[in-house]
Amino acid sequence: MSCLVTVVGSLNIDTVVRVERHPRPGETVLGLELIDRPGGKGANQALAVSRAGASALLIGRVGMDEDGRMYREALCARGVDVQHLQRTPSIESGRAIVCVDGYAENSIVVIPGANTALSREDVLAAEASIAASAVLLLQLESPRETVELALQLARKHGVFSVLNASPVTPSAEDLASQADLVIVNEHERAQLPNIKNACVTLGAEGASWLSHTKRPSPAALVDTTGAGDAFAGTLAGYLALGWDPADALEKAVEAGTEATTWPGAQPWVFDATNELRADGIRGASWAGPTGPSSS
Ligand code: RIB
Repeated sequence: MSCLVTVVGSLNIDTVVRVERHPRPGETVLGLELIDRPGGKGANQALAVSRAGASALLIGRVGMDEDGRMYREALCARGVDVQHLQRTPSIESGRAIVCVDGYAENSIVVIPGANTALSREDVLAAEASIAASAVLLLQLESPRETVELALQLARKHGVFSVLNASPVTPSAEDLASQADLVIVNEHERAQLPNIKNACVTLGAEGASWLSHTKRPSPAALVDTTGAGDAFAGTLAGYLALGWDPADALEKAVEAGTEATTWPGAQPWVFDATNELRADGIRGASWAGPTGPSSS
């Protein structure tokens, strides 16, 4: 049986700025630290699939820039099949500005860049991979038509489709109605009241799906960025490996919790010379916010 998860999604270079608190509109605050890190919901989730022990293939686009080259190679080195991860001339790789406050909560602005160039042709070119998958995993940072086509191909080939309906877009409800399972957080759930078969992440309370609710163990909170992606990729990975929903949910909650213990969305960084630093940097350069200072 296939344990392949095909992911259709975004790749971004996240510029992560640590702040004591988020600025209000019109306000300037001083940042404490800044670092470029790998991100993008598609890549974050593909990596989580691979870390779960399933096979991951990512359909996406980066630029022809150095960031794109390096990111593609790094994902490949971390077990993600990048044969359908194309490089796009004349558009830079996607970027995101991520502010993380003293409570480890983030706000994110995405500049999609090359992610906007992902096309129906790219998805069609990967039809054989989708057909050979146990699970198709998608988010909403890719062009609507690519998500819709991938969902259609999954249905055509009898592949279980999982949509992480994030960020919520005008077409989210329609696309969600075409997926077998929809992963949302509580805010997204409130914006999409009609979706069926939802798996809801509940932050510090864990997650619930079907009749199951799993709560996380306590963890040293550093940064919540990418925790939902670790959850989604791990859930998809364990479902692809044949685990039942309750056990897969438990693993996904564990992975989502672990992802809050490292800074950024993935547990590795680009270093100053644009080479990869080893995995396992958790806490090495960023002890993590513990709340706003009282001074
Ligand atoms: O879910 C977190 C991700 O959202 C970040 O890595 C950022 O790039 C955006 O895609």
